[in-house]
Amino acid sequence: MAKAKYLAVGNWKMYVDSAMRAKDLAGKVTRAASRLRRTQVIVCPPHAFLGTLAPSLKRGSVLLGAQDVSIETEAARTGETSVDMLKSLGVSHVIIGHSERRALGETNEVAAHKALRALKAGFVPIICIGERERDMQGHYLAFLETQIKESLAGVPKAKAAHLIIAYEPLWAIGKSADAAVTPESLHEMTLFIKKHLVHLYGRSAGTSVKVLYGGSVEASNAKALIDGGTVDGVLVGHASTDAAEFSDIIRSIDGR
Ligand code: PGA
Repeated sequence: MAKAKYLAVGNWKMYVDSAMRAKDLAGKVTRAASRLRRTQVIVCPPHAFLGTLAPSLKRGSVLLGAQDVSIETEAARTGETSVDMLKSLGVSHVIIGHSERRALGETNEVAAHKALRALKAGFVPIICIGERERDMQGHYLAFLETQIKESLAGVPKAKAAHLIIAYEPLWAIGKSADAAVTPESLHEMTLFIKKHLVHLYGRSAGTSVKVLYGGSVEASNAKALIDGGTVDGVLVGHASTDAAEFSDIIRSIDGR
């Protein structure tokens, strides 16, 4: 695909529990994605299956992403995966600062270091932000503003075009479509996020950052969220591990 208009990222989290299931799912997604004209699909399996899936994905149009990366390149870090390891498998995108990792203690500062590390290694970081809840006073907006600034600390303007921000409000994650943000509200949030990206990087670089939405995206709401919410695509969690549902999502985004 020359230049995709939309992005559909599948974050498999820890939902897929065997290499056999991972291969089966990747095969079905690859077949569905082969007919798309303007949507780039990226799947982010658990690290344990990256090596298994890499060779077959290389032959199709689906890109391989990782769900996290170590802040270190080479160190005594039991259980971690470095940028070089991911690079050797052909990974192109890395999710950073997902709320489920932030819940384990990952801070904005760590997310920023990981983002820089990923960019330097040539990956596209998908940096997740999102408020736990919304309050009438609008404190959540200040929270998001801080998350944007601190999670991008030190990331230079020259790299803006290689950045993806995924807006994933925690209250909308892991539920069903009716719990997702509305397209109208998402549109406001997209404008808010873009405004702060423009503050950081200036108009041209700031607007080149891609913005995704994540949180209970299903086939029934994906297209409306992208169109009404004016985002560049979606980050899909549980629905991305259901081959039929995810195929419907990517087809609907693509307008097919
Ligand atoms: P969900 O997860 O689609 O299951 O809500 C999205 C995410 O956490 O990335």
